Amino acid sequence: MRHPLVAGNWKMNGDSESIATLISGLLEIQCEADIAVFPPHIYIPLVIAGVGGSSVAVGGQSASEHKAGAYTGETSCQMLRDVGCQYVIVGHSERRSIYGESSQQVAEKFVVAQLSGMTPILCVGETLEQRDKGETLNVIAEQLGLVIELAGLDAVCKAVVAYEPVWAIGTGKTATAEQAQSVHQDIRRQLGESGAKTRILYGGSVKAANAAELFLQPDIDGALVGGASLDVSEFSEICKLA
Ligand code: PGA
Repeated sequence: MRHPLVAGNWKMNGDSESIATLISGLLEIQCEADIAVFPPHIYIPLVIAGVGGSSVAVGGQSASEHKAGAYTGETSCQMLRDVGCQYVIVGHSERRSIYGESSQQVAEKFVVAQLSGMTPILCVGETLEQRDKGETLNVIAEQLGLVIELAGLDAVCKAVVAYEPVWAIGTGKTATAEQAQSVHQDIRRQLGESGAKTRILYGGSVKAANAAELFLQPDIDGALVGGASLDVSEFSEICKLA
């Protein structure tokens, strides 16, 4: 019922040459899962042109909560949509922790993204400290709750949610399949009946070696892949496993 999605977040990596190599690799992937990639904004048109005609979707790694105006350095959801993006990541933990994005801003970005016609990928996740204190489910319920409050439950159910434990991002530490499944199940419970159709991705040091076990879990519908998405053969393996 839920079609798997594998999303590759390239973060602030790559140049014209390495991205051309990634594009040709992406065009060769044959898999059942939906694929989306998130290049740095400046390369988005290049990637869209490169993957044009294939089933690979492209999205933005972040966008402004404002529609337009005097916001130097920002990119609006409308602009991402205008150049052909289908998705936008909102609330990635690097945006929350490095750039101080608040949960309120994340919720606003989510609303603007959906209004502009894109599917937001809403990231939620706890820090190691929060996990150690037993606060994981509360933290996630709160992050999700704020977006539900502003955007409405139906809107969130139509989007994609990514559970990304902060302690597992870029660290090589993956949540065990059981740890991830239990949070995914809780997120789905919070989404209620319509949440049965929502794609919930796992993110945090996903690689070909650990993807199969994660994808076997009943509430894990794919992955948001950082580091491993820059290696197209690794990324391709993950896509085939989904
Ligand atoms: P990682 O990043 O796969 O490198 O841990 C995941 C993410 O930040 O989305």
